[in-house]
Amino acid sequence: MCGIVGYIGDNEKKEFLLNGLKELEYRGYDSAGIAVLKDGHISSYRALGKLENLVHKTASFSSDGFGLGMGHTRWATHGKPTEVNAHPHRGEFSYVIHNGIIENYKEIKENLQADGITFLSQTDSEVIVHKFEKFIREGLNAQEAFKSTINMLQGAYAILLITKDEPETIFFAKNAVPLILGQNANGEKFMSSSDSPLIGYATEVVYLEDGEYGWIKKDEISLFIDESPIIPIFQTLGRDKIYAQKDGFRFFMEKEIYEQSTVVSETLMGRVNDENIELDELKEIDFSNIDSIKICACGTSYHSGLAATYLFERLSKIRCSIEIASEFRYKKPLLDKRTLFIVISQSGETADTLEALKMAKKAGMQTLAICNVDNSSIVRLSNATLLTRAGIEKGVASTKAFATQMVTLWLLALYLGQHRKTINNETMQNEIKALLHTPSVLHVNDNTHEKIRRLSKRYLHGHGFFFIGRDIFFPLALEGALKLKEISYLHAEGYPSGEMKHGPIALADSELFTVALMPQNMLYDKTKSNVEELSARDATILVISPKEFDLADDFIKTSNQSHPMNEFFEMMIITQIFALEIAVRLGNDVDMPRNLAKSVTVE
Ligand code: M6R
Repeated sequence: MCGIVGYIGDNEKKEFLLNGLKELEYRGYDSAGIAVLKDGHISSYRALGKLENLVHKTASFSSDGFGLGMGHTRWATHGKPTEVNAHPHRGEFSYVIHNGIIENYKEIKENLQADGITFLSQTDSEVIVHKFEKFIREGLNAQEAFKSTINMLQGAYAILLITKDEPETIFFAKNAVPLILGQNANGEKFMSSSDSPLIGYATEVVYLEDGEYGWIKKDEISLFIDESPIIPIFQTLGRDKIYAQKDGFRFFMEKEIYEQSTVVSETLMGRVNDENIELDELKEIDFSNIDSIKICACGTSYHSGLAATYLFERLSKIRCSIEIASEFRYKKPLLDKRTLFIVISQSGETADTLEALKMAKKAGMQTLAICNVDNSSIVRLSNATLLTRAGIEKGVASTKAFATQMVTLWLLALYLGQHRKTINNETMQNEIKALLHTPSVLHVNDNTHEKIRRLSKRYLHGHGFFFIGRDIFFPLALEGALKLKEISYLHAEGYPSGEMKHGPIALADSELFTVALMPQNMLYDKTKSNVEELSARDATILVISPKEFDLADDFIKTSNQSHPMNEFFEMMIITQIFALEIAVRLGNDVDMPRNLAKSVTVE
């Protein structure tokens, strides 16, 4: 996810901006840039790749004395990672940096282009600076022009804008993406997308709320919401950087679980409208030449792919199968050019998945990557890519990457169904409603978290866990079991509920813990019978369901959703927190579990 820093004051601006961007490196980025306005002149530098490249480019630049500046690390969403697409973006006399996604940028861009404005980048962000300058040329002052620009934007944003028209001011706006203002007793003002760049510089901060915007000068902060001025309420800033990077959470994994609502909104942004799914990234794929899908992936990515096989067959009415990449590579598979080959990978560097992709390419198949890291090996090799937009994932145990993969695959299944005319209007409306409802389902409920924390103490021993579910809840059961074993080191397996009686039920006794996923919208009665069979053998049963269940030893009640995918995401969060709280009680290193690496680049 992109990072933002800003500064107004007398000290060397480059120092705060580059140090601040360094603190934001943990969020992931592919390019970086700064712009400094001093004595009516704006100096701007951008560099692709590591921050070191920007440090090198700015080596002979200095900016002591009063002035202002802003810096940005970019994680590509619209437009490839290139220097031209790096921020700040410039107009004739102003520069902008932006985190998030401007959903209606195409429409704004077309209007500006019709007025003769030339765009230099492929980003959505560049429209902001041109629209602002257009308002100025039409006679608005800078404040009015900024306000009018913000009013036009739909989507998520944290924005900083500087202009020679108001050389002592930084304009800012925030919606659905974090932005913090800071200050200290020396009269310096700071802006940042997280606490960590501010530590050691600002002494107090205000965390902006969605819809807030305004402008900052050396001695003044003007803050507004809905055109009404508001007084910023500052609070003292803590001093622990690692704590700040985790936004106050105990572990990156926990932070990433809580981020899922926000990142899934980003996954959806610009890809869904009221009536259909728009995936511009798929232009390179000729769907008229495709009559089946093969998915290849490893670990958590395999689980999202397995869930997607149900969605592709049910919604897009296309044959779909999946293979674990390490198995696929050596089985001498039969590859057909009319099969779309989809690889799923958070990192884009997993060796087995990459090699499977190479085999498909060699066989002349059309290839599509579902990936979180633009410009990764898998993205570079595939014919087309759908980026999952989860932002960097630090916890070795994947959480938000899985959620965003699932949403991307669901979007793809609907897009294909649309293309193949296998989904009627009513179903499409229903699916879109459920898709757009997903970010709110992903908000972690504090009471549920607390309940899971308390009951986790009863699950620290035993001779194993079975996570069970049917249909898409079977891959979720596999994923729940993988999360638990990765960070608790307890033995856990995922099983289709209906398979238990074909062998595993022999293990059932009071020390066998069964986590039963019992959604109301997917084969509830069938799963219920399977759980009753386990209960009759005295297995200890934790039920996750919206419906009360008498035989459960423990019960986590989910909300009353009307779509199975919404139930899927609610149960996903519960299994993630369940694993987290057990691992915490066992004293394990949640973010870096033993024997595991975040990116598996060897076979
Ligand atoms: O980067 P990838 O998605 O290709 O990684 C695949 C697996 O190594 C990964 O999902 C692994 O299973 C995670 N540790 C799961 O939490």
